[in-house]
Amino acid sequence: MTQPLLHLPTERAGVHLKELTVEANGQEFSDLVYANFLHLRQHGGQPESLSDEYESPEGYLKMGQVTEGVIEMGIFDQATLVGFIALLTSDLVVPKGSAEVGYWLGSAYTGKGRATAAVRALSAYAKPRYFPVFAQVTRTNQKSINVLERAGYKRTGINEEGKLVFELPKDS
Ligand SMILES: CC(C)(COP(=O)(O)OP(=O)(O)OC[C@H]1O[C@@H](n2cnc3c(N)ncnc32)[C@H](O)[C@@H]1OP(=O)(O)O)[C@@H](O)C(=O)NCCC(=O)NCCS
Repeated sequence: MTQPLLHLPTERAGVHLKELTVEANGQEFSDLVYANFLHLRQHGGQPESLSDEYESPEGYLKMGQVTEGVIEMGIFDQATLVGFIALLTSDLVVPKGSAEVGYWLGSAYTGKGRATAAVRALSAYAKPRYFPVFAQVTRTNQKSINVLERAGYKRTGINEEGKLVFELPKDS
């Protein structure tokens, strides 16, 4: 039996998270990724959805649909897709029992607290299920660091790529 798609409200009126599917969201997701090609690469990396491994943003969504331990959600403001947030829990990519949060907004939708609301909502979903809940961020990405700190994450270390690691404290 297929699982119902995850749908989470956030503290911000109008902003909600909904699991994405190629069938329902492939075109709008792809359009948002390509419209933000440079914005998403500004700190040197690139979102997984632009990785050669998946051939296209739709290919990346498809992978999420068929892979255990990968939840790919749209950040919506009303009916408009404004960004993306993912939770990775697969033992193949994160330590057993933990969960990694990753996210981005289209550049036209930044500066209004939507990413913070999205990270808070997905973190609240993840916290009782996984430990630690963590995120990894390039040290020059102050906007993203601000999002994590506003959402209650604390810096705990530096990974082998030199990225800062932030974790959600168990008692937060
Ligand atoms: C990281 C990223 C999502 C942050 O976007 P953002 O717009 O700064 O984050 P939010 O939507 O939470 O908005 C917060 C900003 O809006 C302001 N704001 C306005 N109204 C707000 C509200 N009601 N609540 C919270 N913040 C509000 C805040 O002051 C904050 O600005 P500041 O960081 O200068 O203080 C965005 O820069 C991005 O997509 N970057 C490219 C991809 C990327 O780097 N992803 C993260 C990889 S780790």
